[in-house]
Amino acid sequence: MGIIRKHDTTLIRIFKGSKTYKNITTDNFLVANITNDPLAFVRYTFSEVLPEDIQTIYSQEREFPVLKDAQSWVAFECINTKITPYSLVAELRPVMGHVNCCYPKAPNRGLNALIEATIHATRYKMHGEEKYLELINFYEDIINKCGGEREKEALRLLRTYL
Ligand SMILES: Cc1cc2nc3c(=O)[nH]c(=O)nc-3n(C[C@H](O)[C@H](O)[C@H](O)COP(=O)(O)O)c2cc1C
Repeated sequence: MGIIRKHDTTLIRIFKGSKTYKNITTDNFLVANITNDPLAFVRYTFSEVLPEDIQTIYSQEREFPVLKDAQSWVAFECINTKITPYSLVAELRPVMGHVNCCYPKAPNRGLNALIEATIHATRYKMHGEEKYLELINFYEDIINKCGGEREKEALRLLRTYL
């Protein structure tokens, strides 16, 4: 999900229909897991997280799941949520966070292209428009040229969801 930082405010815009949308409207709570694993982007966009990939965090107020392999995660309370016909916009107030690992990693065009392709795939699933398939093909060329084996495997996985 795209978390937006505007001056001193952190926001998220969620389109209707996703589980995250439902969670925010019922619990006012969200956990952002930060990863640069190409396969995680595709897997967790299109399928349920497997129980063995989850760690449960117990805090004073609640328990919640995080991804074991996330580089870091932040749990947010969602406040001032505004509902529009197609989406909601919520302000995120951090309540807890954790850093599992941090290593310097150069930006990679293949990973960036995989992320773009995954976003277009979610739009294709939503609207079924051909133009999104063309955009995915465009990013596939970059993944094949600049990506590593994991980006290529993630693209193959992405194609199974189309
Ligand atoms: C990199 C990336 C960013 C995304 N950002 C958003 C976003 O900001 N808001 C949104 O509603 N969907 C976004 N999506 C689409 C959701 O990930 C997609 O709808 C997903 O199925 C939601 O999963 P859920 O049903 O478990 O909440 C994004 C997808 C990707 C790959």
